[in-house]
Amino acid sequence: MNILIIGSGAREVAIARACKRSSHHPTLFFAMTHRNPDLIDLSHDIFISDMRDCQLIVKRAVEWKIDLAIIGPETPLEKGLADLCWQNKIPTIGPTQSLARIETSKAFARFLMKKYNILGLPRYQFFETLEGVYDCLRQFSETGFVIKEDGLANGKGVKVSGVHLADVAEGYEHCIDLIEQQKSFLIEEKCVGEEFSLMAFCDGESLVFMPPVQDYKRAWINDTGPNTGGMGSISASNHLLPFLTEQDLQTAKHICHDVIKYLQMECGEKYRGILYGGFMVTAKGISVIEFNARFGDSESINALALLESDFVEICLGMINGQLAKTLVHFAKKSTVCKYAVPEGYPEYPISKEEIHINVDSYEYIYCASVDRDQNKLMLIGSRAVAVLGMADTLDQAEKIAESQIIHIQGPLYHRADIGTQPMIQKRVENMNKLRAVTA
Ligand code: GLY
Repeated sequence: MNILIIGSGAREVAIARACKRSSHHPTLFFAMTHRNPDLIDLSHDIFISDMRDCQLIVKRAVEWKIDLAIIGPETPLEKGLADLCWQNKIPTIGPTQSLARIETSKAFARFLMKKYNILGLPRYQFFETLEGVYDCLRQFSETGFVIKEDGLANGKGVKVSGVHLADVAEGYEHCIDLIEQQKSFLIEEKCVGEEFSLMAFCDGESLVFMPPVQDYKRAWINDTGPNTGGMGSISASNHLLPFLTEQDLQTAKHICHDVIKYLQMECGEKYRGILYGGFMVTAKGISVIEFNARFGDSESINALALLESDFVEICLGMINGQLAKTLVHFAKKSTVCKYAVPEGYPEYPISKEEIHINVDSYEYIYCASVDRDQNKLMLIGSRAVAVLGMADTLDQAEKIAESQIIHIQGPLYHRADIGTQPMIQKRVENMNKLRAVTA
């Protein structure tokens, strides 16, 4: 079986390793933006491609006689790569361009939730001009507000009052900037609570959920500094999270089921791929932050390391509408993933500097924005290398991740507090306080 994986990061390394564990023993091909050393080592053949160049990717897929394509990042989904693959009879994990709007247009996602009365929708307004913007910001100024660009913005399109924007005046300035750049946007009430990611395999009928994961988004310890693509992520052995109740999880699952049902109804197509809900547990219940149409990075590293079933079988189940009959089992272990990132990341990351990975085994090391140049590993300006600790407890998993990350050497930093007891306790106490207010 020839499998093409599109994407070049640690998420794609996790996907590729899950494929390699399969009893189908697939041959792996990659379309990647840079020479990721882990992916090259796993590959039969690769080519370097712009992720927007769907025509070229499909041309190579046809030449390689690809039996299954798996799309990692959101950009090719937005550009319609899945549509083009299916038109060329290549079964593909990843929704069509129309379905992927659940991620690629935040306004579309909110309209869908509103139209079909889906739970977890915060108050919001959509703007294409400045008319009404100031009043809206003032209206939300008591709870705080969030301004979200409508389209994909590489994780940089969300500004939160009290974090990035000091007050209504700064919020309004930001909206003026967006309108000047001809960008539409949403203004939403700010929700307060604890975030979690819930990913599911989807075959157009059934959803099979992965264990929930918490992403650590801020760059620096103690949840300070700018937002990033994610500095690491944790999951717990009981497949909940320390601040998350079974009822919270059931509500989030219910929301995902509704979203797939109504999204398919709206688009008239089946969703074959990964749905990833970004949720927040608040004092009032579960709120939806956003949906993504792909695996999370780094959340996929946690989830796929836990997956004990055959990933390729699961992909075939998604393609054939047979997911309900496919075995999907996750180990009851805790995981802690941490990213080593270049100094200056995310705003002014250094690049073109060499790093060294001094480990005996690469099993739990996942290269991301690292380019293999001859025999050197060079930084290319984004999250560089992820490590994973997996153990019975979060505490043990965290210590394993720390013991690995010290072997990645270069002008890098990481968050030593991800998955530590004090950080977990902080989240539990925060949630207890919020729940007590409601009680
Ligand atoms: N970890 C955030 C994302 O994948 O979008």
